[in-house]
Amino acid sequence: MKQNQSFHDALESLDDKSINTSRQPSLNQLVNEGRRNLLKGGAALAISSLFPSLFSPLAHAISANIERNSLINFQSVEAVTSSDFDIVSVPPGYRAQAFFSWGDSVMPGAPAWREDASNTWQDQLLQAGDNNDGMHFFPFAEAPNERGLLVVNHEYVNPTLHPEGMLFTDNPDGSRTRPADQVRKELAAHGLSVIEIHKNADGQWQRVTDSGFNRRITGFSPFRISGPLAGDPRMKTASDPEGDEILGTLNNCSMGVTPWGTYLACEENFHNYFVNRDKKDYANRPEHKRYGIGLGGSSRYYAWESTEPRFDATPDPSQAHDGHVNEPNRFGWVVELDPFAPEKSPVKRTAMGRLGRECAVCSLGDDGRMAFYSGDDARGEYLYKFVPDQAYRPTDQAHNQNLLDSGTLYAARFMADGSGRWLPLRFGDPGLTPAEGFADAQAVLLNSRGAADAVGATPMDRPEWVAVHPHTREAYVTLTNNTDRGKQQPVDAANPREQNLHGQILRWREARRDPTAVEFEWDIFVLAGERQDADHSIPANRVGTIKGDLFSSPDGLAFDSAGRLWILTDADETAPYMNKIGSNQMLCADPISREVRRFLVGPWGAEITGITWSPDEKAIWVNVQHPGISYPASDGHSRPRSTTVLITREDGGVIGS
Ligand code: FEO
Ligand code: CA
Ligand code: CA
Ligand code: CA
Repeated sequence: MKQNQSFHDALESLDDKSINTSRQPSLNQLVNEGRRNLLKGGAALAISSLFPSLFSPLAHAISANIERNSLINFQSVEAVTSSDFDIVSVPPGYRAQAFFSWGDSVMPGAPAWREDASNTWQDQLLQAGDNNDGMHFFPFAEAPNERGLLVVNHEYVNPTLHPEGMLFTDNPDGSRTRPADQVRKELAAHGLSVIEIHKNADGQWQRVTDSGFNRRITGFSPFRISGPLAGDPRMKTASDPEGDEILGTLNNCSMGVTPWGTYLACEENFHNYFVNRDKKDYANRPEHKRYGIGLGGSSRYYAWESTEPRFDATPDPSQAHDGHVNEPNRFGWVVELDPFAPEKSPVKRTAMGRLGRECAVCSLGDDGRMAFYSGDDARGEYLYKFVPDQAYRPTDQAHNQNLLDSGTLYAARFMADGSGRWLPLRFGDPGLTPAEGFADAQAVLLNSRGAADAVGATPMDRPEWVAVHPHTREAYVTLTNNTDRGKQQPVDAANPREQNLHGQILRWREARRDPTAVEFEWDIFVLAGERQDADHSIPANRVGTIKGDLFSSPDGLAFDSAGRLWILTDADETAPYMNKIGSNQMLCADPISREVRRFLVGPWGAEITGITWSPDEKAIWVNVQHPGISYPASDGHSRPRSTTVLITREDGGVIGS
């Protein structure tokens, strides 16, 4: 057996590769076109905590009226370019503490984490998963700033999950075999954690290790399917002949929150877990091919199929529903979870479409109508929004339960003149008919990427997180980078740099500030990257427009209630062009002056991702994902562990102010 040493490198280099071979719409033709806290009886308070600004006096202060230069008030942190840097650095007057790490106890009775990674897969089912990513703090209505539930995504796993790394045996037929207990531990380390946290008598945030709300959702957990694909033949497998229950959620990257107080986990690079070994079948199955499901001997990185046959999506006519050929169809969805109802199965909401889905971020209109914005993070994929048919009703929780089961999915087209249009992905419209490969409305949802190709959406530089300004509803998206730009898909106004190494942040304003509008205006907020030097030696594709501290590859993105835009990065700091930018970081930007200031620098080898606040914004949690060296985790041990970090101010003030 051999160990896959370069697992993470392989993921980094291949996860986001282009699968979209269509050459559309950035072509010149277009360039020329012009909860639930009802539990505690406190719905209103719970909602105001989720969307503080929309319900606070601040909502009436349009950001233009905020006194300039008052938004960002902390001392910038120096970039770090040293590969032995293994701490989180924050501004003077701030404190960063490791709070929740891979292997920490989640379920009551969980065994202690062992530094040699010898915990079993059964232990892992009770402990925190790996690679903390998107997360959200849900306050308890009666003490919103003292007690809450933290929901944390565990995106994928690192080889450090096992004492011996990840073991693979190569078979003569090209397949690979994994030790069964490794596969099971990896499945158990995916998914989500829900943990109760509270402020103790000394004002310190702590985990409540015996809480009845604590919960692990893993690659084994049952999910209900709702919306148009519930019970659909294309969701049925040999293990689930009714097509109504899916085991597991995988690759939960960023997320979203609903106005009714539920959490939306999003399934991003699900394609890496599956294989289809039948070339001919693969070629004719867009719901595999267009999503990059592996073709060949084994799934791309995991080879879980050697232990769990459902990850082998090769048709097997000897079995009901052709074996597990439909299993990949059961991933790529938005997963809705009510953190305050640990007894309820989470739900996969198929009306919202199937993507390599990074996030699902809500913009709530004055009339309760909404949009949920999603990035599909792969090179040349699209930006989407889902508009539910019905409006949110703050006082009608029963009505809100299934709002995500019907609505319209749109993909974005960006025109060179700064206008834009949301293109509906509606079955029966031109391009989306049976003659064009879309048999019915369900087929459009199952192959949302193909539908967006057909209507001429704009291929983007890897759309990651979306953030909606709390006062203006202006929406921002990180386009993290795209080294393929200029090859299959030419540069365009929204994706202006060939071989885009550093990425950009783009923003748009819906017509009439209405989240459901089909027209918008857009501009580029910032091109990330370096500053040109005196002798103009930096290639144009690396030169950015940052006013302030340099960064590369923006990924995480969120607004606080005052309208500060927080940017988290996922760049490869070992690249030669990163020598002035250094390790991954969190920065703060002023949407009006566009000033960018660096707030946090992470340990070498880590991505900084995931961000959430206590409602008073005096505590902020940020994730350090896959640190390459000895970042001290919540128990002070030294094996590198993905960790949620708590940041507070020594004087107890609001973060960033
Ligand atoms: Fe998991 Fe697109 O980041
Ligand atoms: Ca990540
Ligand atoms: Ca991400
Ligand atoms: Ca990323």
